[in-house]
Amino acid sequence: MKNPQVLIVGTDPMLRDEFNAALRGAKKWSPVVHLALEQRQGLEIARNRRPEVICFEVRHDSSELIRFAEEAAIVTPESTVVAIFRPEDFDAGVEESSVVIDAMRAGVTDCLRRPLSTVELQQLFDRVLGAAPREQRELGRVISFVSNKGGAGKSSISVSSAVALAQDYPDDVLLVDTSLQLGVAAMMLDISPKTTIVDAIQESHRLDETLIRQIAAPSPYGLHVLAAPPDAVEASHVDDEGLSRIITLARRTYKFVIIDTYPMLDSVIMAALDLSDLVFVVFHATVPSVVGTAHFLDVLKKVGVAEARQRIVLNYNFPRVSGGLKAQDVVDRLGRDIQHVFPFQKKLITALNTGKPYAASCGKRFGFGKVLAGVVREIEATPGPGQRAPAAHQAMAVPGPRS
Ligand SMILES: Nc1ncnc2c1ncn2[C@@H]1O[C@H](COP(=O)(O)OP(=O)(O)OP(=O)(O)O)[C@@H](O)[C@H]1O
Ligand SMILES: [Mg+2]
Repeated sequence: MKNPQVLIVGTDPMLRDEFNAALRGAKKWSPVVHLALEQRQGLEIARNRRPEVICFEVRHDSSELIRFAEEAAIVTPESTVVAIFRPEDFDAGVEESSVVIDAMRAGVTDCLRRPLSTVELQQLFDRVLGAAPREQRELGRVISFVSNKGGAGKSSISVSSAVALAQDYPDDVLLVDTSLQLGVAAMMLDISPKTTIVDAIQESHRLDETLIRQIAAPSPYGLHVLAAPPDAVEASHVDDEGLSRIITLARRTYKFVIIDTYPMLDSVIMAALDLSDLVFVVFHATVPSVVGTAHFLDVLKKVGVAEARQRIVLNYNFPRVSGGLKAQDVVDRLGRDIQHVFPFQKKLITALNTGKPYAASCGKRFGFGKVLAGVVREIEATPGPGQRAPAAHQAMAVPGPRS
């Protein structure tokens, strides 16, 4: 291996210099070094660069390291995560030995004390880079549906996609309803789950692949559901760390994890986006929605959801009106291709009242069902972590802006 890649994640700007200084003596290896000053950026670099080694700076205690190691294991399972620390950076009462034990439990096998030494770095690289490549475990795909405005059709399309997928993969699809204010997924499926996402969060320390299946409610369509919390008080238990943990475990258990979200970009939704292989951005055909979405797509990019992971979905959730925007008008204003255009389908509204999802009975050859089949094909074809990202799905696409 000629130029291995190393990612350093830490808030100390001196880390890179310290690392390079120690590395100068280790003649055998000359890695390309990347630096991320915060975790989210670190995960995005890890996802794109797939570094052989990720050095994570531990401060205060082990909690951030544990979370980072779990997420890194998902986005770049072949990387080796190494903890680096100065014991004096730990909070009062936090012992070095307990940090090392926590690190080991999180799958971090190497811990290096600062200042970094040439000998230790050399030994680390010999061990990691000289070893045979790690075996990769097949993980489920995580797919989110987002919008920056309410009522765009996230729940309709995410539930429809999950139902359609579950028909082909019964008991292998989990729908996670993160709509913390008012989740509708259970209503759309006409189920009254006794357990919700809050139970999964509260059990998160003993949660494993078996327990998550037990907590998720079954639906008549072979789809499993982690429903939204019943009220705002319960919703306050849902945080970014808990949701990350649930998604991380769910993708080890299910082939597909579909996430319905709410129109906000807070830390909980960011946790879902960080772990998503594809993010469907849903909006409808009005000028404010299009303008808002153009801005939202930029924001997504800035927070690390690169265009390759974004899919744009135009949803006609109201009947066509004279003077309404056509798909090509929307593309011109948006300045981006649209991958999927859902037509208005009034049976979706009937389905809301009957609790029988339209996706369970609609065909795949025309209208809403045909577009849905395109979304499902794209989800099925999505490579998981560690595989190459697909080109944007073109079959249903409305091409880019006219010049
Ligand atoms: N293609 C469509 N044709 C007809 N009606 C639709 C379509 N898509 C969505 N709707 C309707 O639009 C309304 C809003 O849809 P939905 O609840 O899925 O939006 P949402 O983005 O999840 O909203 P929120 O942000 O409040 O969670 C619902 O009444 C739904 O039945
Ligand atoms: Mg919704």
